[in-house]
Amino acid sequence: MPNSSDIDLLILQKTHSEANRKWRFLTETDSTNAEISRCLPDHPSEEGLVVIADSQTGGKGRQGRVWHSEPGTGIYISTLIRPNLPPEQLPILTLMAGLATAMAVNDFIPQPAQLKWPNDLLLNGKKVAGVLCEYHSLEIPAVIIGIGINVNQNQFPKDIKNIATSLKLESGTEINRTELIKNLITQLDHQYSELVENKIQALIENWTRHTDLFGKTITLNKSNQSITGKATRLDEQGRLVLINASGEEQAYDSGEVRIVTPTSE
Ligand code: BTN
Repeated sequence: MPNSSDIDLLILQKTHSEANRKWRFLTETDSTNAEISRCLPDHPSEEGLVVIADSQTGGKGRQGRVWHSEPGTGIYISTLIRPNLPPEQLPILTLMAGLATAMAVNDFIPQPAQLKWPNDLLLNGKKVAGVLCEYHSLEIPAVIIGIGINVNQNQFPKDIKNIATSLKLESGTEINRTELIKNLITQLDHQYSELVENKIQALIENWTRHTDLFGKTITLNKSNQSITGKATRLDEQGRLVLINASGEEQAYDSGEVRIVTPTSE
């Protein structure tokens, strides 16, 4: 099918022409993450492969949710990496991809989007982007990093319109998706090479500069448990540290954050 999208693969190929970089553009697919996982058995070593779709019919979000993937407006992109990291360090990759997304997006809008641990990017309190990392335990582990960004949507379906927004809705300007993808891949490459060089502390500090979560009282929902506390920081493994009513600190490696009080005491 000819590419009738405004996403210009040739520009992307030209600006990111590293030897190991392969690009695929699809007008429609079920999910760009699923597309890469189908390639894995035949091409297990294709680190750097990037798959972009103009729309997804089964976009996957975290915790089995659906990622709304309207054609022609959002960015639906996945890339394959083969990190030399054990599965327990996967959370760091999610933080790394979220940070790269925040940095890429913030170059295009006047007020900065804020990271919400572990994988959300919020603009004016609504979700504008999300990250889904999927780990495949092969001889050399493979991680598919999937990123969805709401770019030029003018509206959202009823069930998510109070929690989702787009860069265009918040900034009032249409954004060039090719330019944003270009920036996103640059940021991802940079953050990933820092991680490979083991600069985890720098990543955590940079992530901290892109969130307004700390100091707020939050509820963390984690496998049928609901924990309330003040979010204070990320620890050296990227876990969220909460301080409870008795003043004790506890670090959490996963969960769903809901902000209870917007201001710190
Ligand atoms: C979330 O916030 O729940 C994660 C959303 C991740 C969505 C992206 S869109 C590109 C890639 N393909 C998918 O099916 N999901 C991710």
